[in-house]
Amino acid sequence: MKSFISAEDVTNIPALIQSALDFKSDPFKSKALGVKKRVGLLFLNPSMRTRLSSQVAAANLGMESIVFNVGQEGWTLEFEEEVVMNGTSVEHVKDAAPVLGKYFDILGIRTFPSLVNREEDYSDFYIRQIIKYSGIPVISLESATLHPLQSLTDLVTIRETFQQKRRPTVVMTWAPHVKALPQCVANSFSQWVMAWGEADFIITHPKGYELKDSFVKGVTVLNDQDMALNGADYVYVKNWSAFNDYGKVLSHDPDWMLTNKKLQLTNNAKVMHCLPVRRNIELSSEILDGPNSLVTQQAGNRVWAAQAVMADILNTN
Ligand code: CP
Repeated sequence: MKSFISAEDVTNIPALIQSALDFKSDPFKSKALGVKKRVGLLFLNPSMRTRLSSQVAAANLGMESIVFNVGQEGWTLEFEEEVVMNGTSVEHVKDAAPVLGKYFDILGIRTFPSLVNREEDYSDFYIRQIIKYSGIPVISLESATLHPLQSLTDLVTIRETFQQKRRPTVVMTWAPHVKALPQCVANSFSQWVMAWGEADFIITHPKGYELKDSFVKGVTVLNDQDMALNGADYVYVKNWSAFNDYGKVLSHDPDWMLTNKKLQLTNNAKVMHCLPVRRNIELSSEILDGPNSLVTQQAGNRVWAAQAVMADILNTN
């Protein structure tokens, strides 16, 4: 693939999942692939897992990685076209991105949404400007609308833990949070599960938290969480803010937090969360510290997903 922004960039999702699992079994099997190559990891927003797993993945492939915290360490970038730069932005992406294209073989970039301007957020404007002007392959380290490395990791984790000869039932449930969060993890997980096609998938959320139609095509959506949890093999817990009433927090209802009591409705489901998580707001400590939690295994798998994506890009560019 040329760039990795969405499930639509991947022609064979099961093969990419298998590639990640192969790297998990043998992390250094392609240790020469990235020699004399460099990946630049640009962060306009904070990160722990994405940053470090990408660096470990690059190192496993023999590739150097350089992290650049754009907002804190570099010039403030302007992304709008044809703008008179008389504000706080010092450098235009049209000038900066081609320079980055000279320094690196691959660029990764993380940009969060404003949660104010829905149209701009959902055009994934920042990452598309970097693709347009850098001239080199770009990996999304989480964009305004999608988090593809996380979603690939999530499918890797389901694939490696589900041993039965039937389709797993996967439920993604909205959970409360203290602040407004993007919809990108939820959008992305739904997009990837549906593109993968190897699970029965249900989303449950309170009324008002409907995701954008294009990300939930063919998905069963229920507002009754108990009904949705019934028989689940996996419960993916995530908060997101409203899409229709854009960026708004419409509920803090603590009844939506997953507990061991609610877990009894499921098929002894494994519980997933992308992390970071607000304990006892978004997800109960009894679950996070209990035997059904996959969150550490899931976060560990971030390395193998990133390695599979970087290897694919190195092999095809
Ligand atoms: N899940 C995830 O993307 O974690 P970070 O924000 O720490 O990278």
